[in-house]
Amino acid sequence: MQTFNSSEPIISISNLDYYFGKNQLRKQVLFNINLEINAGEIVIMTGPSGSGKTTLLTLVGGLRSFQSGSLRILGKELCGASARQLTQVRRSNGYIFQAHNLHESLTVIQNVRMSLELHPKISPEEMLARSKEILEVLGLGERLNYYPDSLSGGQKQRVAVARALVSKPKLILADEPTAALDKKSGRDVVELMQKLAKEQGCTILLVTHDNRILDIADRLIYMEDGYLIRSNVNSDIYSPTP
Ligand SMILES: Nc1ncnc2c1ncn2[C@@H]1O[C@H](COP(=O)(O)OP(=O)(O)OP(=O)(O)O)[C@@H](O)[C@H]1O
Ligand SMILES: [Mg+2]
Repeated sequence: MQTFNSSEPIISISNLDYYFGKNQLRKQVLFNINLEINAGEIVIMTGPSGSGKTTLLTLVGGLRSFQSGSLRILGKELCGASARQLTQVRRSNGYIFQAHNLHESLTVIQNVRMSLELHPKISPEEMLARSKEILEVLGLGERLNYYPDSLSGGQKQRVAVARALVSKPKLILADEPTAALDKKSGRDVVELMQKLAKEQGCTILLVTHDNRILDIADRLIYMEDGYLIRSNVNSDIYSPTP
């Protein structure tokens, strides 16, 4: 397998098409996507419901296989990749799902700790300490031993954020991470992600409908009807008014 050259974009997508369904039911949902994201960049993707944002994010995250075009993550080609290669990609990034996808049979801290169990070098004590620390930062220090069904929607979403951030991944893919949060908690969550990105050189691709957080992006991209139709440096659009 090729090694990653650090001057290469962390995400490099060219001529990517994606279809759901087979035969007569086959429907194209992504059309000729071209996108490059550099290490350390925070990119926010917006666009109407049904435009293909989640679909694109799941392809970048190695959650679906596909056969048309090219999508390279850290130098690895995902188009036509095997199930094993996709599993490796999934392990190396932090994914925050639009529906939070917590394990209902595990407590809050067990849900977060689980994503560290894929990293053999971390001791059990450190796993617990790191899980606790990130949950405290996210305001869930009092809820460590609760089960998801006794949490509010926003609290569950914060657990999902903690789970994605706890292993300090190089790439964070976040699908509407602030959708169930009030203004203050939403802001806290994205600022925490931003801080992590800047401190550790991690890259973030975040999908949102939340206009209040667009300013944390270095770049905004816009999806419509399966096409990526605009890609701007943030300051071009959101330049501060004098
Ligand atoms: N598993 C699936 N099977 C068939 N079609 C699907 C599937 N998932 C999504 N689609 C279709 O693909 C298109 C893009 O969906 P996607 O979930 O990527 O949109 P989105 O931009 O994330 O929307 P939202 O903002 O509502 O989350 C939609 O037309 C949707 O109906
Ligand atoms: Mg979506």
